[in-house]
Order: sequence, then structure tokens, then C-alpha cells
Amino acid sequence: MSQLESAVKEIAEEMRQRPDRGEVATYIPELARADPNAFGLAVVDADGNVVYAGDADTPFSIQSVSKVFTLTIALGMVGDRLWNRVGREPSGSAFNSIVQLERERGIPRNPFINAGAIAVTDVILSGHQPREALGEILRFMQFLADDPSITIDKAVAASENRTGFRNRALANYMKSFGVIENPVDFTLGVYFHHCAIAMSCRQLAMAGRFLAYRGRNPSTGLQVVQPDRARRINAIMLTCGHYDGSGEFAYHVGLPGKSGVGGGILAIAPGKASIAVWSPGLDAAGNSHLGRIALEELTKRMGWSIFGA
Ligand code: DON
Repeated sequence: MSQLESAVKEIAEEMRQRPDRGEVATYIPELARADPNAFGLAVVDADGNVVYAGDADTPFSIQSVSKVFTLTIALGMVGDRLWNRVGREPSGSAFNSIVQLERERGIPRNPFINAGAIAVTDVILSGHQPREALGEILRFMQFLADDPSITIDKAVAASENRTGFRNRALANYMKSFGVIENPVDFTLGVYFHHCAIAMSCRQLAMAGRFLAYRGRNPSTGLQVVQPDRARRINAIMLTCGHYDGSGEFAYHVGLPGKSGVGGGILAIAPGKASIAVWSPGLDAAGNSHLGRIALEELTKRMGWSIFGA
């Protein structure tokens, strides 16, 4: 068994036994159904080999992890003009915070907080019907993961649509500054649905490969984005991917990463691996509690931190 195989297996076993599991998100009622005992881990290397353990083939709601991929699509559509609509600085506040928006005249701090991701979704939607924009996002995920079976969990999307009062407030507020171009309900409809994409750790790790290998899918040789763009998306993941927990994540794990309230984290070890972990219990900042601990353990054992072993 390779060093990676034993690390993945042992970490998953250790995580399965831990009593501290964090709190499953309940503000989107459908997410409250997740099993707090679930744990999955998948690592894909340059040759497309997947090393996995635990519930690595169980689909979960990727939620904010989808924002990495919508950012990639929007940058592909409008290039650096995107940065007129959304910033690139860590927010130092909660993912659904509204306070900074007033001070900064409706321009969200970064593309990963909810306001920023809603603005990015609006960019993808412009010139399209919501159904087309959503199809584009879903097909991109299927293409990256090389798996056409990936779908949207409609019950999760409907649940968030019913209870997404804060996101409605954020979107309407941005609309008042002209930062949202499309009807707010259309933009939010696409946003809720891309957050509700369901994927397993294995599928998510496969989808993240282009970020680990200079924008290129190492199995197919296809260049998804230019190396420069992959590097910059990784930089935003490192600084903003865990909201107010981004500093802690960099300190403990030392990799670009993006979390979601479904308990998933996509982490990128540049040149080495794309990693997805899932454990539904969250910490106080809304990031997977055991997901972060597992990644810390993995990067330590493999010497993968971008800051040195
Ligand atoms: O907008 C929301 O609140 C959710 N659809 C996504 C939030 C999320 O995943 C934040 N991540 N930690």
C-alpha cells in the first residue's frame, strides 16, 4: 500500500470514530437530513488515480463549493471585467453577511461570499434564460468530473428557495446599486440550483483536477483554463475559500480550499493532487469541522502544504 493509500485509509478510520462532529446546517431545512456520522475522502493524482475511503461515493450537496466553478465560468465569459462587479479581498465576516455591502456600495468583497457568488451567477445568466445558464453550469461540472450522471438535488434547491430570505435581501440590495442586471428571482433561481448540485467526493476531486495541474486536465490533456487563471483561482480559494475561517484553514491545512455548508471541501495541492472531503457537521464559521481536521492530517502526512513541509 502506498503512503497516500495508507494515509487516506487511516485518516478516514480516525474521523469515523471521533465524537466531535460539528453541527449539521439547518438553515436550509433539507440539509438538516444529512447524517452527521458520514465521512468521505477522495484524492486524485496526476495520472487520474483515485485514492478514497469512507463515504467517498455518496453524493452530497456541494453548496458553496460550486462557487469555484461558477467563478471559472464567469471569468471565461467576461475575463477581468468580472472584477468591476466583485472584489478579491477576504471579507473577514460570515458567508451571508450584509454589513460590508452598504459601506462598499453594493460591490461584494469576493466571489465566494454569498453576495459575491450571486453577482457571479448574474454574470453567467446575462443574455441567457435561467434554464440555459443552469444547464451550462451543470454540464461544466459533468465535463470536469467526466461523469454525466451528476445532477441537481431539486428538493435542496426548493428548500433554499423557500427559506433564502437573506440571499434575497443581499440580491435586492445589490440590485439597488445596479450590480445585479437580471431579475433578482432569475439570478437567485440559478444560484440556489447550482448550490444544490449533488456530487460525491470522488466526483468533486475529479472536477478539481484542472486547478491542481496548471489549468489542464492531466488525463485528457484538455486545457480547461490558462495556467495563469488556475493560479489566481487557487489564490482566491486560499484567501477567501473559508470565509472568516480562511486564516485558520491556511494555518492548519496550508492549501487553497473551498468549503460548502453541505460539509464538503475541495482542496488543491498544486502539482500533486485534487482532494475532496465530506463530513456534514460544521464549525462556527460554517466550514466542515472534521473535513478541515482530516485535510490538516493529510497535508501533514504527505508534506503537501504550499508553505512547506
Ligand atoms: O447561499 C447559501 O447560503 C448556500 N446556498 C451556500 C452557503 C455555503 O455553502 C456557505 N459555505 N460554507
